[in-house]
Amino acid sequence: MATEENQSESRLSSATSYAFPLKDIPRLSCNDRKALEMIRKSEPVILTDTNLVASALHWSLDYLADHIGDGNFTVYKSDSHKFKYYSDKKCKMVKEFRPPTVQMEMKFKDFAALLKRKQKERDCSEKIYLQQALNDSVEKTIVYDFVNFNWAWLTEQQTLNNWGPLTSNLLLVGMEGNVTPVHYDEQENFFAQIYGHKRFKLFHPDQYKNLYPYPVYHPHDRQSQVNLDCPDFDKFPNARNLTGYQGIVGPGDVLYIPMYWWHEVESLKDKGETISVNFWYMSRSVDKVEHPLSAQQKMAMTRNIEKMILQALDDPEEVPSFMQMLVLGRYT
Ligand code: SIN
Ligand code: FE
Repeated sequence: MATEENQSESRLSSATSYAFPLKDIPRLSCNDRKALEMIRKSEPVILTDTNLVASALHWSLDYLADHIGDGNFTVYKSDSHKFKYYSDKKCKMVKEFRPPTVQMEMKFKDFAALLKRKQKERDCSEKIYLQQALNDSVEKTIVYDFVNFNWAWLTEQQTLNNWGPLTSNLLLVGMEGNVTPVHYDEQENFFAQIYGHKRFKLFHPDQYKNLYPYPVYHPHDRQSQVNLDCPDFDKFPNARNLTGYQGIVGPGDVLYIPMYWWHEVESLKDKGETISVNFWYMSRSVDKVEHPLSAQQKMAMTRNIEKMILQALDDPEEVPSFMQMLVLGRYT
């Protein structure tokens, strides 16, 4: 499937040329020892043969609309194809902040009808994206498929890699062309593709200096300020040095996204919409810290120091001069 997909990539993708060198994410059977080794080393890999969501491969927009029930689902609406995440809680920290998307609650049936209506519209500049943690409001047919996910394989991975508990399963239903801009998460993620195809761009945690994340107090915390489609190299000069990985996932594929790895996700032109479920796990517990620290550990440390300084100074505007005083002429 990989080669076939690579060949049809330009047909599927709405993206134009891409400025950064990208290597392919390895695509391996989960029965291959190399794949397990990659997960152990916190390296991304597209896994085949996991059967993780085999019980859900019959899901489609209509199937979910008919069977998922009457619960409320969170749907984001965007004026563009981009859905940049923001934290509601942090909005008040930045007075001039205007949320780039509108958050709505709706029944799945209404979401499906709206999505179909938008697919028919010629000018589809406004897009929608359903992102909802699966909970017990879903009806029994879906619960049955959920219970039949390959939990045995997941639990084995969780144990082998010393991960903490599963925290949530996010159901994502997107329109073709939707993009989740480059960001990182603070959890381990098995991303399972169910319907349609998605293209991932991944960047190692050591690309931190090339991706200029927003400050931690900002609503866009964990998101990069760099627009990968047309980077502003004057403002973010290190973005010229950005290198990464890419890969396409289709139904039945599972992408392992290690904690703190940057990722950008695009729903490809294929079936009209995409359906995915991800499995988030708390990070692995570390018994003994070894030096030099990994890029992941440095990112965690940077976040903690930044939060501590912000909390102590109680004013983001005091941070730059404080940090400069600490370093400039002393450590430089
Ligand atoms: C997406 O699939 O659009 C986003 C998934 C993620 O960032 O984990
Ligand atoms: Fe993510």
